[in-house]
Amino acid sequence: MYNTAELIDKLKTETILSRDEYLHLIKNRGVIRERAAELAGSVRDGIYGKSIYIRGLIEFTNYCRNNCYYCGIRAGNDKADRYRLTPEEIIGCSDSGYELGFRTFVLQGGEDPYYSDDILSRVVRDIKGRHPDCAVTLSVGEKSYESYRKLRNAGADRYLLRHETVNREHYGMLHPDNMSWDNRMQCLRNLKELGFQTGAGFMVGSPGQTEEDLADELLFLKELKPEMVGIGPFIPHQDTPFGKETAGSAELTLFLLSLIRLTLPDVLLPATTALGTIDPMGREKGILSGANVLMPNLSPVNVRGKYLLYDNKICTGEEAAQCIECLKGRVRKIGYEIVTDRGDHKDCG
Ligand code: SAM
Ligand code: FES
Repeated sequence: MYNTAELIDKLKTETILSRDEYLHLIKNRGVIRERAAELAGSVRDGIYGKSIYIRGLIEFTNYCRNNCYYCGIRAGNDKADRYRLTPEEIIGCSDSGYELGFRTFVLQGGEDPYYSDDILSRVVRDIKGRHPDCAVTLSVGEKSYESYRKLRNAGADRYLLRHETVNREHYGMLHPDNMSWDNRMQCLRNLKELGFQTGAGFMVGSPGQTEEDLADELLFLKELKPEMVGIGPFIPHQDTPFGKETAGSAELTLFLLSLIRLTLPDVLLPATTALGTIDPMGREKGILSGANVLMPNLSPVNVRGKYLLYDNKICTGEEAAQCIECLKGRVRKIGYEIVTDRGDHKDCG
């Protein structure tokens, strides 16, 4: 049998464990949670200091052709109030974000064919032209290698594409048959090959997820070596097939943040809005567990309340300027500092 305390120390030194060892830690996290957060925090501080990077999130469309069972903006949700931002509006968000100190913009949306490669490329080029010292991250789902190549050539630096689950069968429980785990994984490999700083990730506590799956997630991440990892609790949305399912827990999400930091010491790791939604102190606790990125919303306030992936999403009413002031104060209170910086991965930029 394993000694739980020794295992977490071993992870800090060796940055990888076996599947059984990860599983043991996950099952016995109650006794080791605080130690894991402490070690993860010290590893993060050793690499990134007390700096917390911010990314300005521009949720530019809530149209989506997909029908993921968990997601509030799925095509099949006819109660969703749909919107699209014009290229000028997206660029306007980046301009106001720049003034607020943001040096990374994340353009996120459903898979919306309205935004052709040409339109998206033009938006990326314009933002990079106006703000050459900024990074542009895209998070617009699965595309062909050729489309990713065009977007990369337009100047996009990074791409977030959560794989959602490492388990192919589990993927089939979360998505309809026309969506493919193999394609999503191939997209991640394509993005890496094209030189994007790439973000993978998964929801914690999605219906059907097991502790064994979580151990496999850690092994998968170690092998893929993404520059960014996005994890957050699954939270039900009332107008989806998973509307009555139980939400994932903050406690397990925080523990996994620590394990991810210890497994991929350099990784850029956000404390997500979903974590802040299930626990009012979730983002602060996320930082104290090893996260080093926050992604406040830069979308215009009149559309904020429409990008609802899950119920009770926080920060849907505030102006971006208010959000950033609030976050600066929260981060300072726990001994960290939001910085004006592109915040590239250590090996890039
Ligand atoms: N369409 C793009 C894509 O597929 O990557 C980006 C947008 S998608 C809404 C961004 C992420 O939101 C997904 O990868 C998923 O992990 C997360 N998400 C969706 N529904 C959620 C829910 N009910 N609870 C928590 N996270 C959710
Ligand atoms: Fe497409 Fe969620 S189903 S973004």
